[in-house]
Amino acid sequence: MKCSIVSLSLMAISTLAAPTMTSFNHVSLPKRAALLEDVASTGYATLNGGTKGGKGGKTIEVASLSELATAVKGDAATIVLVTGPILGNGENVKIGSNKSVIGKDSSVILTGFTLTVKNVKNVIIRNLAITKVVGGDAIAIQVAQNVWIDHVNLSSDRDHDKDHYDGLLDITHAGDYVTVSNTVFHDHWKCSLVGHSDNNGSEDKGHLRVTYHNNYWYNINSRGPSFRFGTGHLYNNYYENVSDGVNTRQGAQLLVQNNVFSGSKKPLYSTDSGYAVASGNDLGGGQNTASVGTLTKVPYDVSGLLAASAVKATVVRTAGATLVF
Ligand SMILES: *[C@@H]1O[C@H](CO)[C@@H](O)[C@H](O)[C@H]1NC(C)=O
Ligand SMILES: *[C@@H]1O[C@H](CO)[C@@H](O)[C@H](O)[C@H]1NC(C)=O
Ligand SMILES: *[C@@H]1O[C@H](CO)[C@@H](O)[C@H](O)[C@H]1NC(C)=O
Ligand SMILES: *[C@@H]1O[C@H](CO)[C@@H](O)[C@H](O)[C@H]1NC(C)=O
Repeated sequence: MKCSIVSLSLMAISTLAAPTMTSFNHVSLPKRAALLEDVASTGYATLNGGTKGGKGGKTIEVASLSELATAVKGDAATIVLVTGPILGNGENVKIGSNKSVIGKDSSVILTGFTLTVKNVKNVIIRNLAITKVVGGDAIAIQVAQNVWIDHVNLSSDRDHDKDHYDGLLDITHAGDYVTVSNTVFHDHWKCSLVGHSDNNGSEDKGHLRVTYHNNYWYNINSRGPSFRFGTGHLYNNYYENVSDGVNTRQGAQLLVQNNVFSGSKKPLYSTDSGYAVASGNDLGGGQNTASVGTLTKVPYDVSGLLAASAVKATVVRTAGATLVF
């Protein structure tokens, strides 16, 4: 599938440039450079009108916490380009609707404060590292729709107790139409929670539709993710030394395709009637003990699906804040 797309586009190009060329084997096209105006093109974030972030709005460059907090306020379409590292101390930067918040390059590390996406719609967070948020989540998505988290690098350390830091990426209170792609989650206890409480079914049921793909998870104790009530699609994720991996709970329905686990105690498991349909995964000798569910397909195109054998090399090379703007 992948090969045929590449050769088709090569043919289209070479029809213009070199009409006599007929063989295109072993040619690889350079990857298209990432653009500030990129929109979500995979997963649940492509539904419900799509996730365009600040596309079409002006670009504002920020280099401090106060500049960042000001630039992300309000509903006007804006691309907020963070140009340098920012150190915080437990603050909560609340991002308005129609925003793309993008790190310029891998030097942009946000330390010690939370990005909150709450009561808003249409937000992109891209190419940022966020680390060591004491007592809070690195990214918190609540009552929000259409969020794309891409090429982000989220971490803390495991030198403190489990509750010193909170989650790296928690999606709660009926958050919906979310895609998490090309992201690194590492060195953390409780990584990514979807649905914060067994008692919140009345708010969460029918929502919490989240896609996680091509993410690299390493040195994590649990929640890769832990998923209550909602609908999840996990594909082409690579897990290295993640003790408790994907936990499906409280009626959640997951489709778990072509992921790779290395050194996992519990790669895929249910608690309290959570369900999963699993195929094409490499569980690295671990077991899938999840109850078989009903989610066999998703309502969007999944043309980029890699075989499990290609996942580690691709994901380790591309995930994280590896883009340059
Ligand atoms: C921004 O978001 C709001 C609320 O989601 C929406 O009503 C509005 O049309 C958007 N504005 C722009 C400029 O895209
Ligand atoms: C759960 O959701 C409801 C809305 O249905 C909210 O008002 C309530 O605070 C939430 N409960 C808990 C335990 O978080
Ligand atoms: C995972 O654990 C193994 C064995 O302890 C170690 O060799 C490897 O470096 C770890 N992987 C990562 C990404 O830290
Ligand atoms: C992610 O962040 C860690 C520091 O927390 C850094 O060592 C690592 O190189 C980063 N990786 C990527 C791919 O951005």
